[in-house]
Amino acid sequence: MHNPMALDGHVLLVTGASSGLGRAISILISKLGGRVVLVARSQERLAETLSLMDAGDHRVEPFDLERLDDIPRWMKNLTSEVGPLNGLVHSAGLHVTMPLRVLKPSRLEELMKVNVSAAMALTKGFRQRGVRAEQGSVVYLSSVSALAGSAGNAAYSATKGALVSMCRSLAMELAPEQIRVNCLAPGWVPTELSARAGEKLEGSQLQAIADMHPLGLGQPDDVANAAAFLLADTGRWITGQTLAIDGGYTAH
Ligand SMILES: NC(=O)c1ccc[n+]([C@@H]2O[C@H](COP(=O)([O-])OP(=O)(O)OC[C@H]3O[C@@H](n4cnc5c(N)ncnc54)[C@H](OP(=O)(O)O)[C@@H]3O)[C@@H](O)[C@H]2O)c1
Repeated sequence: MHNPMALDGHVLLVTGASSGLGRAISILISKLGGRVVLVARSQERLAETLSLMDAGDHRVEPFDLERLDDIPRWMKNLTSEVGPLNGLVHSAGLHVTMPLRVLKPSRLEELMKVNVSAAMALTKGFRQRGVRAEQGSVVYLSSVSALAGSAGNAAYSATKGALVSMCRSLAMELAPEQIRVNCLAPGWVPTELSARAGEKLEGSQLQAIADMHPLGLGQPDDVANAAAFLLADTGRWITGQTLAIDGGYTAH
């Protein structure tokens, strides 16, 4: 039976693959027949993700994405071994809840580096000759924080909003090269990142966040399904878009 979401023969690089959404995306890609290059800093936790995936010629590739200048060369070397990439998912990301009065420029810079500048460098690396296959799909993990405001979230929102706007311009720039660029904007999904954010909130505040999602809170698989949709043939006519996966959060 024809499955338009099949990823057989596709090689996909997933950052943030050691945890949360990146882990769920890696697992789903493997179930759809794709090969995954798993990227994050912790080799041990990447290996943990690998152990949860369907068997395949996957590769654990520890790398610190703060090494921005090294990213394109690293991708060139990597793909000389694993072959050209059909897609890239940038799920590595940092979050901070910090009111403006205590926000330091250095903290904002740190977030910008991993959330935004690494996305740009990865896409620059991806479009190099030999690094990507004839057609490519790039997916950034933005957030509903790019689309709706919440107090104490300005730094994080700024980085996630930057992904939404740069994805539109890169979609225009890279369409002639048959590269699609899109964002996912998840609502609150239980992962280590949201657990850390939740630690700073009171029960009533957490309940208020849950209540903002008419369909209730999501699961990592809800986001993974959407990522696979954009990576596979199902997404072939979609570029420059931001898809909210948020149980209705932004429909208010
Ligand atoms: N969970 C949510 O509710 C939610 C909602 C909206 C958007 N998002 C976005 O979705 C993405 C994934 O979130 P998550 O919840 O899965 O977060 P998570 O569980 O905290 O995972 C973050 C990932 O980023 C990696 N990472 C961080 N800094 C890195 C660096 N310098 N180099 C390489 N990898 C690095 C971490 O791996 P190592 O520590 O091993 O390096 C980890 O794999 C993020 O961009 C987040 O902003 C999440």
